[in-house]
Amino acid sequence: MTNLTNNFDEHQQPSITLQTGDCCGPECCADSGAPLGEAAIKAAVREHYSQVAQAGCGCGPSCCADLTEPLIDYGDVDAQIMIGANLGLGCGIPTAHARLQPGDTVLDLGSGAGIDVFIAARAVGPTGHVIGVDMTPEMIARARSNASSGAYTNVEFRLGEIEHLPVAAGTIDVVLSNCVINLVPDKRRVYAEIWRVLQPAARFCISDVVTYGAIPAAVRNDAELWAGCIAGAMDRTEYFQLVSAAGFEITVKSEVIYDAFKGADYGIASVTIEGRKTIRAA
Ligand SMILES: C[S@@+](CC[C@H](N)C(=O)[O-])C[C@H]1O[C@@H](n2cnc3c(N)ncnc32)[C@H](O)[C@@H]1O
Repeated sequence: MTNLTNNFDEHQQPSITLQTGDCCGPECCADSGAPLGEAAIKAAVREHYSQVAQAGCGCGPSCCADLTEPLIDYGDVDAQIMIGANLGLGCGIPTAHARLQPGDTVLDLGSGAGIDVFIAARAVGPTGHVIGVDMTPEMIARARSNASSGAYTNVEFRLGEIEHLPVAAGTIDVVLSNCVINLVPDKRRVYAEIWRVLQPAARFCISDVVTYGAIPAAVRNDAELWAGCIAGAMDRTEYFQLVSAAGFEITVKSEVIYDAFKGADYGIASVTIEGRKTIRAA
């Protein structure tokens, strides 16, 4: 989530400001064009995160200096884990709610530079294994380089799309994801894939951006706001219905409602949910 700043505390509802200008805020979606197709969205998202990976900064190469404070405070997570891996792209701390156990096999969707993979790697220990999947080659390269610098032996990063996971069915204990699924046009497909790769009765812990109310078409059709984790966010109620229909029992672990759009007819929130795999209806 690249263009929001706040004093993140998962127990409060902090105020938040959208940074405008090069990073794209509300102003730059005012005269959006025609509806964006899936291919255009994916290309814009990949290009954006390619630049972020190469710049090593969460807000894109042009506005790093504006990033006054990170969106997420990882608190007492070992600072060594963070170096090079935390690009300020998350919107929650899924690992804090995931109850990872030694020996678990964990999958992180849209792993970026690897921050949640490395936190999970410490939790699952040498008998566990953590796989990160990301569709942006430059992000995978950065994450692999971080893994090598940190001498991690229980992690791997795979290039791929989370709608078509390069992971065998029924092999994963816990799926994680941090601020990624909002970027994907076909969210139903992502949750079907999560269901496929999880073992029976296993679970996910996912942080994502949702909306209260419908996002206006002018925002929805802005490619930069897709890449900035806003335009692709779904209405919270509809999102939860989609996840339930995919075969999961949902528990909300934390939620932060941002007030960036106070006065407008919709709002944005970051929510961390756990979903337990159930028997799917069809
Ligand atoms: C907002 S960043 C979050 C990165 C990381 N989870 C973190 O918290 O630092 C989104 C990441 O998801 C990746 N991504 C976006 N859409 C994807 C897709 N359909 N399949 C795989 N990766 C995707 C991007 O390349 C980018 O690295």
